[in-house]
Amino acid sequence: MVNINFFSDKSDIQNKTILLRLDLNVPLKDKVIQDYTRIDLCLPFLKKLIEKKAKIVIVSHLGRPKGQKNPELSLTPVYKYLKKNLDTNVYFYMGNLDSDVKKKFSYQKAGEVILFENIRYFKEEENNDEMFSKRLASICDIYVNDAFSCSHRKQASIHKITKFAKKSYAGPLLKKEIDAINLIIKNKKKPVTFIIGGSKVSTKINIISNLLKKIDTLVIVGAMANNFIAFKGYNIGNSLIEKNTKTIVEKILKNANENNCEVLIPQDCKVGTKFSGKSEHRQIDKVKEQELILDIGTKTIELICKKIDDSNTVLWNGPAGYFENNNFEQGTMSIAKKISDNTKNKSLISILGGGDTLSAVKKNKGKLSYTHLSTAGGAFLEYLEGKDLPGLSVLK
Ligand code: 3PG
Repeated sequence: MVNINFFSDKSDIQNKTILLRLDLNVPLKDKVIQDYTRIDLCLPFLKKLIEKKAKIVIVSHLGRPKGQKNPELSLTPVYKYLKKNLDTNVYFYMGNLDSDVKKKFSYQKAGEVILFENIRYFKEEENNDEMFSKRLASICDIYVNDAFSCSHRKQASIHKITKFAKKSYAGPLLKKEIDAINLIIKNKKKPVTFIIGGSKVSTKINIISNLLKKIDTLVIVGAMANNFIAFKGYNIGNSLIEKNTKTIVEKILKNANENNCEVLIPQDCKVGTKFSGKSEHRQIDKVKEQELILDIGTKTIELICKKIDDSNTVLWNGPAGYFENNNFEQGTMSIAKKISDNTKNKSLISILGGGDTLSAVKKNKGKLSYTHLSTAGGAFLEYLEGKDLPGLSVLK
């Protein structure tokens, strides 16, 4: 990745319009931001651009509105937070991206910020549409992608825009992410354990299959594990499960076996009858019809902690359970604490990635440390897998 074009803050950007692609995809609950990390990380660069009197237009997505204007996924809460934290005029643009969009922005003065409403309200964004990308690019003199976590998406504001922008660069946060991950990949020491959670196994099958060649143990937790538990013939009650994952699970287990990679799945769990309810402990073969598996159990936690003790490198993406409810946070919090302790005391190399993993770690009261905490989920995994991310290859 040495040949990526990085933005230099030495360049003269006074009065130049910079279209800055950020990842402001923060977790929201009833339109209230639950974790500010992604925005806070962007503030220093924004402040620098303001100080240097650039005209800044921020573009981001929030969730997956699939080309529809969905008020639940508006960037309004992010706009309010930016307005509070930036010492300049911040405007919110909720209009269309039509041919005279540049004229509409003519009121913007040097050092001011315009935040574009959720770019995924437009179907052209996900379609990587040529005309849409051209219009986006027409707004700016310089395009900067500072959203590593979106760079695996072949979408207009990440990919096709670079075909039309006069100059395209990667921003400092993106640089920091890839520098840190590169360094870790280069120095990683065996044995390597990869802990993967979250819900969808189907979207991660290729990543898991490719990583199996590079790791010694694969630990599967979170709702994703339900597919493996069901595959082994156990009842999972009302738990989340994807349809038709039998072949996927079979393929992962076969690949793991061929690559001498051990696969660890939960042996016990915490169940509830609803997401907001109380928890009860169950052995994995004792889950009842009405129950939902919402966390890993104590025995599984012990096994995972032992595995972390035996590892020199740990990669972790995706929580172990429904940590938003304190009754189901123990699995995720225990893994977070164990990895942190071993990073501090035993020189464990640890990389954590993903928005949910980040929120979970932030929820932990103690001070935790890791070798690298990435804000990226899918992009982080694809990069680890060794893929050329579409958003990065266009910046070379
Ligand atoms: C993320 O949360 O990983 C990024 O914002 C990318 O979101 P996406 O998976 O909806 O493209």
